[in-house]
Amino acid sequence: MTLELAPDPQPDPLLAEALARTQREVDACFDRLLPVPGDARDQLYLAMRYAAIGGGKRLRPLLVAAVAALFGVDRSVAVRVGCAIEAIHVYSLIHDDLPCMDDDALRHGKPTLHIEYDEATAVLAGDALHALAFDILADQTLIGDPGIRIELVRTLAMASGAGGMAGGQMMDMVAETTSFDLPTVTRLQQLKTGALLSAAVEMGAILGRFSPDGRTHLRGYARDIGLAFQIIDDLLDTEGDQHVAGKTLRKDEVAGKQTFVSLLGPDRARAQAHMLVDQAIGYLASHGKEADLLRAIARYIVARDR
Ligand code: IPE
Ligand code: IPE
Ligand code: MG
Ligand code: MG
Ligand code: MG
Repeated sequence: MTLELAPDPQPDPLLAEALARTQREVDACFDRLLPVPGDARDQLYLAMRYAAIGGGKRLRPLLVAAVAALFGVDRSVAVRVGCAIEAIHVYSLIHDDLPCMDDDALRHGKPTLHIEYDEATAVLAGDALHALAFDILADQTLIGDPGIRIELVRTLAMASGAGGMAGGQMMDMVAETTSFDLPTVTRLQQLKTGALLSAAVEMGAILGRFSPDGRTHLRGYARDIGLAFQIIDDLLDTEGDQHVAGKTLRKDEVAGKQTFVSLLGPDRARAQAHMLVDQAIGYLASHGKEADLLRAIARYIVARDR
């Protein structure tokens, strides 16, 4: 039996407003950061703008802003830190779509970067967005305190590299030809997707100067929504509407990829995602209404159709 994907019948107004606002702010931030220089590098800048401006849900910047808001952090600082994570995310998608990885032609409802430009430009645009992320965080005009800046840099570096997203992407490639068990697929997903989502929550707490000990419940929240997020991504791949998702679907099975859906089947995978979201919301029990946006984000992660 295949379960219907159930879009949220009444989108939470708090969430809808926060998503739209964050999307506008992130677009504006990349627009400012990526002026086309008018020289022989123009194609690189145009390609970076093509991938970074418009299209994405901006879930990672939204998480930074929602956590930072718990601690009264200046909104524009939180958004710029969110853009640093988003720059890594966008670069990871550009490389993920390359012929040597998922070989995808559609992203955010338009041709992928290597189709619109070429593969060399796509590799370089990814490289340059990777560097841009750390440029944003190291900028002393963003945050005066060098201790906070270095903690942000380290957190994002660890979430992006071999111990995070890139490592998860390697496991994901291996998963096409190797039979993984559930704990190994869980680890894969935690690295590939969970690490950057967790970094978003962590970096919001770092901006708020929240003590590492006090962050335990936020880490639990982040871990659970990260796993639920990837289960839904995998479910969307098997059951979603390509026009709504804006990317080519039905890829994982064709590639022979081990996912939660291939291991558990769609019904148990969806039940697992719902259980994780309930658990994530449970981690926020010590917070009052100020954490309602984080609760709404968790619910959106399983209700989304793109
Ligand atoms: C898609 O992430 C890739 C994964 C990490 C599974 P998102 O669904 O957050 O991508 P966009 O930016 O909103 O399209
Ligand atoms: C991509 O995962 C994750 C990263 C880019 C880190 P997927 O390959 O499942 O993402 P989609 O489905 O192409 O968006
Ligand atoms: Mg992939
Ligand atoms: Mg892919
Ligand atoms: Mg996918």
